[in-house]
Amino acid sequence: MANIEAILSRMTLEEKIGQLMQYNASVFLDTSAEITGPMAQFGLSEADLGRLGSVLNFASADEMKQMQDMHLAKDPNKIPMLFMMDVIHGYRTIYPIPLGLSCSFDPELAKNCSRMAAREAGASGVQVTFTPMVDYARDPRWGRVMECCGEDPMLSGDLGAAQVEGFQGDNLKKPENLAACVKHFAGYGGAEAGRDYNLVERSERELREYFLPAYKACIDAGVELLMPSFNSLNGIPSVANPWLMQKILKEEWNYQGLVISDYNALGELLVHGIAADEKQAAKLAFENGCDIEMCSSTYLHHLKELVEEGAVSEEQIDAAVGRVLELKDRMGLFEDPYHGADQQKAESLYLCPEHRRIAREAAEQSAVLLKNNGLLPLDEKLNRLAVIGPFAREQGIIGSWSCCGRDEDSVSVAQGIRDLLPDAKITVAPGCGCRWDDRDTSGFAEAVEAAKNAQAVILCLGEPQSYSGEGNCRTDIRLPGMQLELARAVIEANPNTAVVLFHGRPLDIHELDEIAPAILSMWFPGSEGGSAAANLLFGRANPCGKLAMTFPRSVGQCPIYYNHPNTGRPHWTAEARQQHYASDYIDCGTLPLYSFGHGLSYSEFSYSDMEVSAPVMTAEEPIQVSVSLRNRSSRPGKEVVQLYMRDPVASVVRPVQQLIGYQKIAFGPNEEKQVRFTVTEEMLRFWNFEGQHVSEPGTIELMIGYADHFCTRATVELK
Ligand code: NOJ
Repeated sequence: MANIEAILSRMTLEEKIGQLMQYNASVFLDTSAEITGPMAQFGLSEADLGRLGSVLNFASADEMKQMQDMHLAKDPNKIPMLFMMDVIHGYRTIYPIPLGLSCSFDPELAKNCSRMAAREAGASGVQVTFTPMVDYARDPRWGRVMECCGEDPMLSGDLGAAQVEGFQGDNLKKPENLAACVKHFAGYGGAEAGRDYNLVERSERELREYFLPAYKACIDAGVELLMPSFNSLNGIPSVANPWLMQKILKEEWNYQGLVISDYNALGELLVHGIAADEKQAAKLAFENGCDIEMCSSTYLHHLKELVEEGAVSEEQIDAAVGRVLELKDRMGLFEDPYHGADQQKAESLYLCPEHRRIAREAAEQSAVLLKNNGLLPLDEKLNRLAVIGPFAREQGIIGSWSCCGRDEDSVSVAQGIRDLLPDAKITVAPGCGCRWDDRDTSGFAEAVEAAKNAQAVILCLGEPQSYSGEGNCRTDIRLPGMQLELARAVIEANPNTAVVLFHGRPLDIHELDEIAPAILSMWFPGSEGGSAAANLLFGRANPCGKLAMTFPRSVGQCPIYYNHPNTGRPHWTAEARQQHYASDYIDCGTLPLYSFGHGLSYSEFSYSDMEVSAPVMTAEEPIQVSVSLRNRSSRPGKEVVQLYMRDPVASVVRPVQQLIGYQKIAFGPNEEKQVRFTVTEEMLRFWNFEGQHVSEPGTIELMIGYADHFCTRATVELK
């Protein structure tokens, strides 16, 4: 263990401030660095490189070692740098995008995926990953929904915490463990109109109820770092927002870890119009608890001056630097500045059979069977198949934020089917019918011909991966280009057409839903997407994913989410919808196309005999809820049993339904099981008007099934 106090006592103020700065690896690696290039851009000197605390974005363990050596040679205190990167859903082997993975409702699986990513990333020299992203989101126009865990706060928290555990492991000194950074605190997913970086104006009660819990779950799981969001939250950008960074994070949650800004977020305080100059930006961010500044230079240029003027105390600087040094110490960097990184080992892990297996399983469990009129699963004996559509041969299905993942490493649907059924005659229309996004229909005739000659068609549609992710918001969330028209032509030519969908957000596919016999959503499934799709289409794997985010019927319904508070003129019961003056649209209605929790299986599950263990519950005496579940098919399968509650009378308007528990359970053929949940008073709490987290006595309705499609209900009195 390093003696942090002794190190601090040897450091000059400039050296301390250096620990609070982070820049791109290009400041080291760009050989034109001295006069022009990245160093000039950030106003860095050669000496600053010897004081730097951390670096982000680099290509390999060898590159990391080269930079660490360059730095240590210049650093009088010999303090190793930390190396950080966005390892979001895999390093080189890519597993499904986080929103897809959430549909697995399987925190253990998420943990496993993170372990695999940590192994590859750690060997490649990464020590800190900017993940998990648990921004609560309801608006599919926002491109970054692909990175989030969906529209339920509890599920987001569970998945986020599982990623923290998966990445961090039991001991940060081990090369296969990375420190995790939860982001973007807070409310980034609430951007007005689904437009990236836009303002977020939300009531404190809404923030506490929906937006904040998942970050807290990650902190409770021991996350080492936290990144404030770019957006202004109720008027002040997060990194400078005292309510968020001091009151909630430090005072209420007692967060002790590091805070790192987002990319140039301190520079953007000037653009927001919150700081008149860089000096004020540095002061605002630092006094609100931002320890490390990423890729702007307000600390580099002004923190020393602020200390000399007495606007910032050296004790505060020591506390921030202490947190940086302690993390370095917990990671064992003072003993091994390379953290065990080894490029040769990394190469042996990339896309290794075990990692590919995990990626495939994750893709299978994340896929959601949205519709099936009985066409799926397809019979493996079919020997004339047509694989059509712009995603038929596409390998660009790993999704945005794929770190070092490469499209060419991934398995396309056509390849996946070929691998599964080597003897079948598979026709892939050379032009695949059409491209994603232009109006060209010249490939339709060939696609229709292929469809006519096949016993079944697999039609692979979607939005390109570049349409989601940071900065990629859409106002029109339908299938781009001529894809719907292609679907019409192909389905008319051959009604045995199953659609396989690739996407980074819930899409408006209501017209496709009207014509397609079966629709399988793969999200962006990662390196093994095509093998997973093939297994699912032919019944080698049984779909079990459930939507973590609602699919609207029209973009005009957005934001749309299952757990919305009630209104005085509800739309969500059948009688209410008859009323003209209901909270409804005259041209579309308010029901989604597919709601949160929806997802079909090839097994047939029936629920019965929901029981509560007692009619009354108290804080001291929780109740048990049980339900019988039977697989009425001969096909083994998994079902995500979902328990919801509604609090019909409370001092504030409550959501019409709220998930309070879920269990993913495996069933053998025709197997029946009793599933039990414990419901505690704590699970029924909400934020009241006075800002307290309370439960109130009264009747609580409990429902099992999924949003708006409940199979069975019971009530309990909370005393
Ligand atoms: C900007 C993004 O908002 C954030 O999620 C990411 O971690 C950083 N850039 C670093 O790449």
